[in-house]
Amino acid sequence: MELAGFLLILSLCATSTHAQITLVFANNAQGTAGGRRFDSVVGAQGAFTILSDAITFVQSTFDYSNPSTPKKSVSRITFTVDDIGGVAYTSNDQIHLSASYVGNYSGDVAREIRGVMFHEMTHVWQWNGRGSAPGGLIEGIADFVRLKANLAPSHWVKPGAGNRWDQGYDVTARFLDYVNSLSAGFVAKLNAKLATGWSESYFQDLTGKSVGTLWSDYKKKYSYSLDSGSTQNIQK
Ligand SMILES: *[C@@H]1O[C@H](CO)[C@@H](O)[C@H](O)[C@H]1NC(C)=O
Repeated sequence: MELAGFLLILSLCATSTHAQITLVFANNAQGTAGGRRFDSVVGAQGAFTILSDAITFVQSTFDYSNPSTPKKSVSRITFTVDDIGGVAYTSNDQIHLSASYVGNYSGDVAREIRGVMFHEMTHVWQWNGRGSAPGGLIEGIADFVRLKANLAPSHWVKPGAGNRWDQGYDVTARFLDYVNSLSAGFVAKLNAKLATGWSESYFQDLTGKSVGTLWSDYKKKYSYSLDSGSTQNIQK
């Protein structure tokens, strides 16, 4: 019995390498509809391809080829499909994707899985201001990377939406994309600064404008095209 269990684990796990990084994949939800859907749509080889593409894209977005960029040291990344709720999460270089999310997703599930994995892969490589950066900024940066990879899903808010710059996810990603368009490489430079700490003044340091001014400029830019939300009148 023990031998059979051991072989079963071996058959569920696969490894690959990306540069010096060992990639480990396992589908722990093959007994669920979502786990089986993952295998038919992506599979182990597809998972390694996405992981590898995501590493390359995240490192490029964060300007990892620049010698002065502070880089995360990562030797092993584990990706598992699990019988869990929610969408996905990452902790200690271990990416977990919810099988039921995959099973229930209506739309282009292959593109959605790729988008979620680019978001989660960003968490592996990004800095968080030694734990002091706002969670909304961390999630916004992860969705910014997903946006730049052309993997934003149709259910995201439109540019200009949201109530606060650090609301997180798609709201903050759209705002960061605006700031990045004003100041080339802004997000990469912000991530580099987050290696040692966090201050709102980083926005001022990198763009010459406070985050509050940037947010109000952003809201003004899009106020005419927003079809929902409060009335915001442009002062003439
Ligand atoms: C849909 O989600 C529910 C709740 O998480 C789950 O029990 C069910 O198995 C999912 N369906 C599929 C096809 O994955």
